[in-house]
Amino acid sequence: MKVAKALIDQLETTKVLTKEEWLYLLDHRNESLSQYLFSHSRAAAQSVFGNDVYIRGLIEISNFCKNNCYYCGIRRGNPGVNRYRLSQREILQCCLRGYDLGFRTFVLQGGEDPGFRDEDLANTVRIIKEWFPNVAVTLSVGEKSRDVYQMFREAGADRYLLRHETYLRSHYESLHPNSMSWERRIQCLEDLKSLGYQVGTGFMVGSPHQTNECLAEDLLFIQRFSPQMVGIGPFIPHHQTPFAKEPAGTLDLTLFLLGVLRLMNPRLLLPATTALNTIAPQGRQMGILAGANVIMPNLSPEFACKNYELYDHKKYSGMENAEAIEKIRNDLAKIGYEIKISKGDFK
Ligand code: 5AD
Repeated sequence: MKVAKALIDQLETTKVLTKEEWLYLLDHRNESLSQYLFSHSRAAAQSVFGNDVYIRGLIEISNFCKNNCYYCGIRRGNPGVNRYRLSQREILQCCLRGYDLGFRTFVLQGGEDPGFRDEDLANTVRIIKEWFPNVAVTLSVGEKSRDVYQMFREAGADRYLLRHETYLRSHYESLHPNSMSWERRIQCLEDLKSLGYQVGTGFMVGSPHQTNECLAEDLLFIQRFSPQMVGIGPFIPHHQTPFAKEPAGTLDLTLFLLGVLRLMNPRLLLPATTALNTIAPQGRQMGILAGANVIMPNLSPEFACKNYELYDHKKYSGMENAEAIEKIRNDLAKIGYEIKISKGDFK
């Protein structure tokens, strides 16, 4: 216990650990170590962000996907999905509503949909930035060529989310079919960075076959790559995927990893994710108390949110009205935090 706590102190000072040290920490995780970590990680977040929580409005633009990831509910091979693609008009309507509710970042996320033309998405980004000059646009539409990423960037996209999913190649290959490549995923992240995006990566916690060694590799990669954002959430099985019978990732491990990520980089934009809020009723608040500083409420129309089912029991929190945001505001107030109306760029 003493050694593990000393490692947390060391992480707080130097921001890095070796693989052996990460493994030691992960192997010795327990309740009292976690509480020790959270008191430090929470203070680290507060030293940069005070009691502010940034909100990002998530707009799920398409659930068509050409990929067949074994974990994901909207995989190509799932015939049970009602596929949809939002029109430009529908996307802009979400933004208008979101802007009125105080959102200053819109996250356009979708499957890798060959029917959604890159030029059309670039055009939509351009219009959003024209209509709302003081918002940030984040894209999360998977792997694209560097040229396409550049086109999006020139259209005004500020940020891009692309989780690496797992850094250990053999593990990556156990979560994805052969048509997908670990190298390409990492190359995309390098391309995004070189184009000047604020880049978010991340991984699922407790995905099938994940070991502490996998997690140590993920943390080492994040240390090296130094992204501006990291999205992590528990793996949650979806009943129409090959991983339907696999156990979900745990709340405790997810919170622990949020805590160490916060200590690695106090300025990191770190969301308490929807998946975290799905496995635990107070997941969002617990995430904030472990060091997260971002939440991503859903601005998608109801039919879209219901059909954008990456995992079972995903919550529809009905963000189309001001009451829903009031509820979030109250939940945060109970733990001493407040929503900050701001683009919330990486500092
Ligand atoms: N459980 C939790 N997270 C999932 N994702 C996809 N499927 C699942 C699942 N079953 C995550 C992936 C992806 C992000 C958009 O959602 O990490 O990058």
